[in-house]
Amino acid sequence: MRIPLIRPYLPPRTKELVCGVLDSGFYVEGPMTARFEQLVADYLGVAHVIAVDSCTDALEISLRCLGIGPGNEVITSDYTFPATLQSIILTGATAVVVDVDARSMNIDLEAVEAAITPATKAVMPVATFGNPLEYRRLERLKQKYGLYVVEDAACAFGAEYRGEKVGIQSDLTSFSLHPRKFITTARGGMITTEKAKWAEWIRSYKCFGKGMQATRADTAFEQMGANAMLPDVLSAMGVAQMEFVDEMLARRMKLARRYLNLLQDVDGVCLPETVEGGNHSMQSFCVFVDDRDRVMSAMRNNGIEAQIGTYAMHMHKAFLDNEHVRFESSMSNSRWAFDHCLSLPLYHEMTDAEQDDVVDCLESAVASKNT
Ligand SMILES: Cc1ncc(COP(=O)(O)O)c(C=O)c1O
Repeated sequence: MRIPLIRPYLPPRTKELVCGVLDSGFYVEGPMTARFEQLVADYLGVAHVIAVDSCTDALEISLRCLGIGPGNEVITSDYTFPATLQSIILTGATAVVVDVDARSMNIDLEAVEAAITPATKAVMPVATFGNPLEYRRLERLKQKYGLYVVEDAACAFGAEYRGEKVGIQSDLTSFSLHPRKFITTARGGMITTEKAKWAEWIRSYKCFGKGMQATRADTAFEQMGANAMLPDVLSAMGVAQMEFVDEMLARRMKLARRYLNLLQDVDGVCLPETVEGGNHSMQSFCVFVDDRDRVMSAMRNNGIEAQIGTYAMHMHKAFLDNEHVRFESSMSNSRWAFDHCLSLPLYHEMTDAEQDDVVDCLESAVASKNT
């Protein structure tokens, strides 16, 4: 594609840092992962950051950390990536799936409240495309029903809510480091929390259940665990990007604002809405158009890699007739979002000319449909 959806940005020091790890011979759980975690903790202003091998694992481990499993229900969003539901199902709990809000595309909190039962232990809301959640309303629900909030913030690194970075508001928050994400280590995830007890449990779990304070080899393994560590070679990529994070985010915001200006008066193109009091991370710049598949093909035929936004879970065989999934509420907003959402190219080194090209191509594709 002439203009890809994403082109990961690797700051100049990336190779030096990665090669430093290769030369050190210390590839897993070494000083580079600790440095990456600390840089992220300082940036987000959160007490604990634990690097793991994917956001999918981060979500599952977060639920396990809270003791969630068979017999428990976790309420989540229909409009998301399958990993959200899969992380719940893998614990043996039931995913109770509800619709999204028509404007923010985040979970519909009224539908969440209606779906609560005595078995509900947690809500797993998704900060869709990087749009922050309505944390104040979530906090009220949490207090009223005694629930945990385990946030899927796969796309929300850098987003803010009322002046604070996303990553401190929920009990446990998971971010993705997949190549389509703002900060990428090729593969990886991060869990953030304010609670030392949970952080310690997660550090142990991701490393086969090894006690972090263990001094004796014969009794070191204190609980069940997994192999979910983030290799240091990958953490080095993350460190290089964290050294540039402010510049990278500022560039992203500038490009997103430019898109908003260029597209605001284009007939047939609906723009994304940010939650009140929030700053969107603009992980994905999504618009909504009629006849999305035809518009998307027209753009691709012109070498522009437009993409769907994300998926509506109630349309997929993996989750229909699944004994660990219960769909509640109408999914009309999720279905609408799936049918209309179009993700546009956005990456650090995108030029104004490339962006103009995307806008022109989108405009003519939408207009030709209207004639
Ligand atoms: C909302 C959401 N949750 C979870 C994931 C899974 O992330 P990972 O690929 O790091 O496991 C993704 C991936 O794109 C996502 O978009």
